[in-house]
Amino acid sequence: MIAILLSGEHPSIPYSEVRAILNGENIKFIEVNKFNQLMIIEADEIVCEVLRRRGAYIIEGGKLILHSEPSIESIIKEGQKIDWSFLKGKSFGVRIARIKGFWREISSMEIERILGDIIKKSSDSKVNLRDPDVWIKGVITDGGIFLYECNFEVDRKSFYRRRPRKRPFFHPGVLDVKLSRAFVNLCRIKEGEKFLDPFCGTGGFLIEAAMMGFEVYGIDLDRRMVLGARRNLDYYGLKAELILGDAKHLPISEIDGIATDPPYGRGTSTKGRDVKTILSEFLEEAHEVLKSGRYICIAAPRELKLQELAKLKGYKIEESHEMRVHKSLTRSIVVVKKLEC
Ligand SMILES: C[S@@+](CC[C@H](N)C(=O)[O-])C[C@H]1O[C@@H](n2cnc3c(N)ncnc32)[C@H](O)[C@@H]1O
Repeated sequence: MIAILLSGEHPSIPYSEVRAILNGENIKFIEVNKFNQLMIIEADEIVCEVLRRRGAYIIEGGKLILHSEPSIESIIKEGQKIDWSFLKGKSFGVRIARIKGFWREISSMEIERILGDIIKKSSDSKVNLRDPDVWIKGVITDGGIFLYECNFEVDRKSFYRRRPRKRPFFHPGVLDVKLSRAFVNLCRIKEGEKFLDPFCGTGGFLIEAAMMGFEVYGIDLDRRMVLGARRNLDYYGLKAELILGDAKHLPISEIDGIATDPPYGRGTSTKGRDVKTILSEFLEEAHEVLKSGRYICIAAPRELKLQELAKLKGYKIEESHEMRVHKSLTRSIVVVKKLEC
C-alpha cells in the first residue's frame, strides 16, 4: 500500500491529478482510501517514481507502514507491532506533520519521540535528523495517524525557480507553474505521446508538457505569443512545434491529449470575438483531431457553462473542478473525453 501526501491548495485537483497521471501511464492501481491531503492506493512501488517525476499538487509519499487511531496509546501499540528490521544498518529520522489542525490534543513531537524510541529498541538503527538513510514520515489527518517510509519527494522548489516572471517572455494572465502542470497531467497522457495546447500564449503548459517528455505542439492567434513561447521554450532547452493559427482550424491530427486555458474575454485577447463561439468552434475542431477515448482539460469562467457546451459537441464529462480566482471570476476546470467511435 502506498501513502501519498497531497497539497492542500485545492480540495479536489490533487486527488484527480494522482488518478490522471496513473491512468495516463496505464498503471494499474486501486484507490483504497482518501483523507484530507492524503490518499492511500494499492499499487506497485513503481508509482513512486512516476509521481515524483510528474506531480504538481503531490508532495511526497511511500510505502504505508501503519495506520493508528489518533491517540498516543494506539500509536505505541501499533508501532510495537511493526517489524522494523528493514532499517537494519541504516540511519533513520521520524517526522510527523499535522494536516489543518486535526487532533491538536496529540503532540506531533511526542509521537516522533515515541516512535524513535520504539524503532531504536527493535533495530540496530541510529537516529539522524539531518540526512538519514530513511525518513519515516507521518501525517495526522482526519482519518487518524498514518506512517510511511518516504520513498519519493516532488521537487517543489523547481516550480518556484521557473515561475512565469523569471522567463524571458512574460504576459499577464499566465497560470502558475503548478496549475499549468496539473492541467497537463489531467489530460492523461504519457511520455512520447502527442500533446497540444491550442491557445498556448507564453507557453506555460508547453514547458511543463515538454519537461514530462511529450511531443509538444502549441498554437496561438497572436504572433507575439508564438515568438514569445519560442523564446521561453528555448530558454529551458525544450522542443516544441509552435504554429501561428486559430484554434478553430487545427493543422495537426492524431493528438493524444489537450490541455488549455483559452481566453476568457477579460484580460486576454480574443481579437473581438465572443468567448463562447471561440470555445464552441475549438471543441468542434478538437473532436476531429483528438484520438478516440482521449481527453481535453480546459478552463472557462463558471458562468459560461463549459460542461453543457462540451456535451453538445459530443464529449463525455470526466470531471469538473471549481477555482475561485477573485470576487468576479470563478474558473471551471473541466476534463472531457472524446467517446470511443
Ligand atoms: C489565457 S491565454 C493562454 C495563457 C497560456 N496558458 C500561457 O501559458 O501563457 C489565451 C491565449 O489564447 C490566444 N487566442 C485567442 N484567441 C485564439 C484563437 N482563436 N486561436 C488560438 N489562440 C487564440 C491569445 O492570444 C492568448 O495568448
